[in-house]
Amino acid sequence: MSELRNARDRLVLALDVPSLDEARRLVEELGAEVGVFKVGLQLFTVAGPAAVRLVHDAGARCFLDLKLHDIPATVGHAVHAAKDLGVDYLTVHAANGPACLGAAAKAAEGGATTLLAVTVLTSMDTGELAAIGMESDSEAAVRRLGKVAVHAGIPGLVCSPWECAPLRRDLGEDICLMVPGVRPAGAAAGDQRRIATPHQAISYGASLLVVGRPIRNAADPVAAARAIVREIDEAL
Ligand code: C5P
Repeated sequence: MSELRNARDRLVLALDVPSLDEARRLVEELGAEVGVFKVGLQLFTVAGPAAVRLVHDAGARCFLDLKLHDIPATVGHAVHAAKDLGVDYLTVHAANGPACLGAAAKAAEGGATTLLAVTVLTSMDTGELAAIGMESDSEAAVRRLGKVAVHAGIPGLVCSPWECAPLRRDLGEDICLMVPGVRPAGAAAGDQRRIATPHQAISYGASLLVVGRPIRNAADPVAAARAIVREIDEAL
C-alpha cells in the first residue's frame, strides 16, 4: 500500500465530473488539500488514461475506480493494463469470486497498484440487498465478501464506515480499507445510505476516505477539504 504519512494522504477526492477540463480545474484547486484523486467510470469513459496522467502530473496518487466485474481472463488483462498505467489503487468486485480475484491478484504482482475489492456498495440498504437476493444484513454480506477477497490475495477492501471495525477484527490491521459513504455533519446524503462522519470512519478503522459531493458541491471546496483533513487528524 502507498504510504499514509499524514491526514491529507488519507483523503481521496472523487473526480465524478463529465470532462477532462473540469477534472483539471478540481485537481488544480484541490491538489494541495487531498492526497489521492479518484478517476471513476464517468471520467474514465470520457477521457481514458489522460485522466490518470492528469492526476500523476499534479504529483498526486490516482485511484482508478473501475469496479471490474467479468471473467478471470478479462479482469486479469484489465488489471495488467492498469498496473502498466501506474495507478496507485484499482477496484474489482469481490462478487467476481475466488478464481477471478486470484487472477486479478496475480496480474497485479510486481507493480505499484494496490487492488481493492468492492464488498457491498454504500448506496445499498436492506431493501436493495433483498431485491437482488442477498442477505439483508449488510454487515454479514460485507464480512463474507471481504474474507473471500482477502483469501484470494486482494490486499484491500471498499466498505462503508460501519463495517470497518468488524472487518479489522476478522482480517487484521494490515488490510487497506477504502471507505466511501462519508458525510461531514450536516452534509446531504444524496444516494448514499450507509454513511458516517469522517471522524467516525477513521475511528472505526478506515485507512482512506473517499469524498465526492460534500467537497465538490461545497460553496468553498478548499475549506470543505481542509475541514475533513482536520477531522481525520483529530481522529487518528
Ligand atoms: O459524492 P460521494 O461522496 O457520494 O462519492 C462517493 C464516491 O465513492 C463515488 O465516486 C462512488 O462511485 C464511490 N463509491 C461508493 N461506494 C462504493 C464504492 C465506490 O460510493 N462501495
